[in-house]
Amino acid sequence: MSKTVNGFSKLTKLEKIDWLISNFFDDDIKVKQILMQYWNSNNKLQELHDDFIENTISNFYLPFGIAPNFVINGKDYTIPMAIEESSVVAAASLVAKFWSKRGGFKANVVATKKVGQVHFMYEGDKVKLQNYFSEIKEDLLIATDAITQNMKKRGGGILDIELRDKTTDLANYYQLHVTFETVDSMGANFINSCLEAIANRFENESIQIVMSILSNYVPECLVHAEVSCKVSELGGENSELFAQKFVQAVQIANAETYRAVTHNKGIMNGIDAVVIATGNDFRAIEAGAHAYAAKSGRYKSLTNASVEDGIFKFRIDIPLALGTVGGLTKLHPLSKLSLKMLGNPSAKELMEIIAVAGLAQNFAALRALTTTGIQKGHMKMHLTNIIKQLGANEEDKQYLIDYFEDKTITHNAVVDAYNKLIGEH
Ligand code: MEV
Repeated sequence: MSKTVNGFSKLTKLEKIDWLISNFFDDDIKVKQILMQYWNSNNKLQELHDDFIENTISNFYLPFGIAPNFVINGKDYTIPMAIEESSVVAAASLVAKFWSKRGGFKANVVATKKVGQVHFMYEGDKVKLQNYFSEIKEDLLIATDAITQNMKKRGGGILDIELRDKTTDLANYYQLHVTFETVDSMGANFINSCLEAIANRFENESIQIVMSILSNYVPECLVHAEVSCKVSELGGENSELFAQKFVQAVQIANAETYRAVTHNKGIMNGIDAVVIATGNDFRAIEAGAHAYAAKSGRYKSLTNASVEDGIFKFRIDIPLALGTVGGLTKLHPLSKLSLKMLGNPSAKELMEIIAVAGLAQNFAALRALTTTGIQKGHMKMHLTNIIKQLGANEEDKQYLIDYFEDKTITHNAVVDAYNKLIGEH
């Protein structure tokens, strides 16, 4: 039976839920309960969330945590993170503290150029097209005047418009490749509006516009972050071996795609968590970062590590198109709070902070992987989660943590040990 529905968006929230239940569930009470327990009792706040998207029937929470003790360019930060993966905030906090005692993180923005393109088809003479573009270029800029006015006041705007011949890749395909400075906004709406105005002015009977859209590939909106210290200051029993294996782990990610993808996924654990917490678009960041990782034609690590003259150095270069104004940044109360917690940074400063969050996360992962293995820390978190679910008191909790110090942690094993303990009480 077809479940298509007309005019769905016009139904009330409860009518939508009823429709969902009658079509996909047997047990209407539980479904309603599950959905409604996440409704916010503050109607205004709920309405705000309802309006972010269409057909909202509930809210989907992510834990919102904070990682203190980050020192970046000599300044202290507590970094907000929205993420469900148990080890990420703990790892960030540990690594922040570790590097705060070794000079902290250094970061700098390399460039902030963003890109948008008008893609079009043209079958005529190439020289004629070039001449037409040269004649009309100034008018194309004028066509965006109303849109760029405010952005210009803030120090941004259109940097350049280029005509690019792409006909060797696709027959008759050309583009206007437009570069932008969008200062503290991510600039997606601004860029797309400019592109559409440019396309309208540019189109003629022999030019067929296919589409106008920003690019999430932003290799020239780039930030660099790094940490370094003497190998001997890395601590532990064998700093030399640690540094050597750490560097090898990065080399492996550079040599092997299967590893590189997981390596970069770990970096994105840190990046996405702060991107989400600050109301930025994590899909755009993900797409841009992975494309950048593959810029040489082979997918590689976003970080690099080296030991030279007894100095261990670990760094990241990553494109991050971020905003600290516009979009969700000031609309979502938690994004607003996150930015405040960071001292209301400029987009550039936020690029530095987020690159550091990625570098820190990668440091934590590689440190664990090349020493104790990743499962030890993960299972510890898993253990505390299970203990919490069981409702154990502090004393029993500590007993179970000690008991499992040298044992394999599984859900059943923890439940059995807890039940035995309760029996003994
Ligand atoms: C897990 O979310 C991330 C790691 O797999 C990253 C890595 O392997 O480098 C631990």
